[in-house]
Amino acid sequence: MTLSRNITIALIAGAAALAAASVPASAQAPAGAPAQAPAQVKPTGEKIAFPENYAQGELYATVDRADNKQYRELYISKAAVDAAKRGEPLPHGTVITLVQYAAQLDPQGNPVKDANGRFIKTNIVAYTVMEKRAGWGAEYPDNMRNGEWEYQAFRADRTPNTSANLTACFNCHKPLDPKQDFVFTYDRLKGTTR
Ligand code: HEC
Repeated sequence: MTLSRNITIALIAGAAALAAASVPASAQAPAGAPAQAPAQVKPTGEKIAFPENYAQGELYATVDRADNKQYRELYISKAAVDAAKRGEPLPHGTVITLVQYAAQLDPQGNPVKDANGRFIKTNIVAYTVMEKRAGWGAEYPDNMRNGEWEYQAFRADRTPNTSANLTACFNCHKPLDPKQDFVFTYDRLKGTTR
């Protein structure tokens, strides 16, 4: 019994090792067939450095998020605002920084509102960043790629959040209207509303 179980385990381990070592789909394609897109590519976000000077850019929007009790500030370059005002895609080199603050809470745990009915920010809990550069994104399959954008999540101490699910960033921003260039708040870049 012990012996046969050990053999079974060894077989399973062997099969797993084989699967892990299997050749990419493109290499399995029959000769002459077009190479297939990679099935899935896990983003690392490592191309994006923390944007230390984000606060010198334009604060173009703020968002109250009742679902996670956050107040958010969104920063971008002046050049990107100008491009959006002309209705153009955002230029290469654009960095968008979303700063997540914990909202001030009342004793019941509900966000306190200021005189304008807006949340009140307290400490920074995290940052999310998207950055666009010429040629980025080429490694992703079409059903995932967000043009030339990359995504990264940073902790409050500005180090990368290595447990963030970066595939989810791509999937949630992907379905936006092409005119928005994968940016939810694209229209707010054009206007004066915050
Ligand atoms: C479930 C959907 C969803 C996921 C997942 C998601 N986002 Fe977003 N993202 C939004 C929405 C909605 C906004 C608009 C602002 C807001 O509500 O905070 C936004 C805004 C942003 C912005 C500001 C620019 C814009 O598009 O308006 C950045 C930067 C950003 N997200 C980065 C990220 C990163 C990095 C990740 C992954 C770690 C991520 N997002 C995951 C929905 C999502």
